[in-house]
Amino acid sequence: SEDEVVNIVFITKDGDRVPLKGKIGDNLLYLAHRYEIAMEGACEASLACTTCHVYVHNNFYDKLPEPKEEEDDLLDMAPFLKENSRLGCQIILTKDLDGLEVELPKATRNFYVDGHVPKPH
Ligand code: FES
Repeated sequence: SEDEVVNIVFITKDGDRVPLKGKIGDNLLYLAHRYEIAMEGACEASLACTTCHVYVHNNFYDKLPEPKEEEDDLLDMAPFLKENSRLGCQIILTKDLDGLEVELPKATRNFYVDGHVPKPH
């Protein structure tokens, strides 16, 4: 129903704004895939990569539950880390997140596949 709709804006690497509609309970990674947003998600949300890295804009960062320790540890290895960085596969939509804007970083690296761990920026 309309009550369950959560409006999201993805900001692509090129700076394009892509509005889309998710619903409560959607995983942000799979929602992105459904809309063919270039968010990789190499490990399928199993907290074993950083290719789902996003920046959470405005005050929405504070509306998200705290990251698990595993997520923090992974983020420490993500290229282009910022204070508002999260792993997109750990973001589950709630009504509170209506209006959420997430931006994709310039690049992500799958260190397990690439064979080395990048230095955090
Ligand atoms: Fe790998 Fe999110 S898809 S940690």
